[in-house]
Amino acid sequence: MEQKPISKAVIVRLPRYYRHLGELMEEGVERISSNDLSIRMKVTASQIRQDLNNFGGFGQQGYGYNVKYLYSEIAKILGVDRQHNLIIIGAGNLGQAIANYANFERRGFLIKGMFDINPRLIGRVVRGAEIMGVENLEKFIVDHEVQIAALTIPKTKAPEIADRLVAAGIKAIWNFAHTDLVVPDDVVVENVHLSESLMRLSYRVCSMQDEQERAEREHKEQEGSDRASAKGKGERR
Ligand code: NAI
Repeated sequence: MEQKPISKAVIVRLPRYYRHLGELMEEGVERISSNDLSIRMKVTASQIRQDLNNFGGFGQQGYGYNVKYLYSEIAKILGVDRQHNLIIIGAGNLGQAIANYANFERRGFLIKGMFDINPRLIGRVVRGAEIMGVENLEKFIVDHEVQIAALTIPKTKAPEIADRLVAAGIKAIWNFAHTDLVVPDDVVVENVHLSESLMRLSYRVCSMQDEQERAEREHKEQEGSDRASAKGKGERR
């Protein structure tokens, strides 16, 4: 079947579908309607139908979506049905936290090794991944067919390392360093900035507080004016 180009907005939403479908499978649910999925995911049913129609429509009228089939199709689209070899550059707090997270393997991301410049870290092993010196970087990438590099180093060091990664054949950079990397068109970069996410959360919580305060103010003003008008009426009597 010819596949329509999928918009970036839909791709961004797919991991969430994938996660919910995985949970449904664990719960033993075999099929689900767009309405039930919409309640579970707190998005509209029409959004779900629209998104999933991009792939030729997995759903059937009156039957709903076959959870296992949809899960495996989304896995194919996201490429998580394949193995991706990954390295981590920067074996500090963040790098080691990523290496210690076992769930990436279940998604097909295998952490093949870690790199650092700190001699005290080199030689250590984090959940099976050895920390090596950066002088071995290029050879390791080629020998282990590494596709993805996570960058968890200071931002001042990131551009130089990114250039080396690209020259060695890395096709994807998972960038945690707080800097925008310049890479060729055939290399993809996914920036992950927890602080940006936190700022979005701050905006939402502040907006909610402001809204509550505004409602309380209006409520008090209304009470004040109700009292004043009741008093006025009492005095006139
Ligand atoms: P850290 O100081 O614990 O670890 C950084 C590691 O990078 C150190 O082990 C250091 O020796 C190594 N390193 C420095 N230059 C290197 C180079 N040229 N090649 C290889 N390794 C090198 O710092 P932490 O907390 O792990 O943070 C790492 C980076 O990630 C920082 O730039 C920080 O700002 C950033 N960060 C980003 C977050 C995000 O959400 N994007 C969240 C937390 C940290």
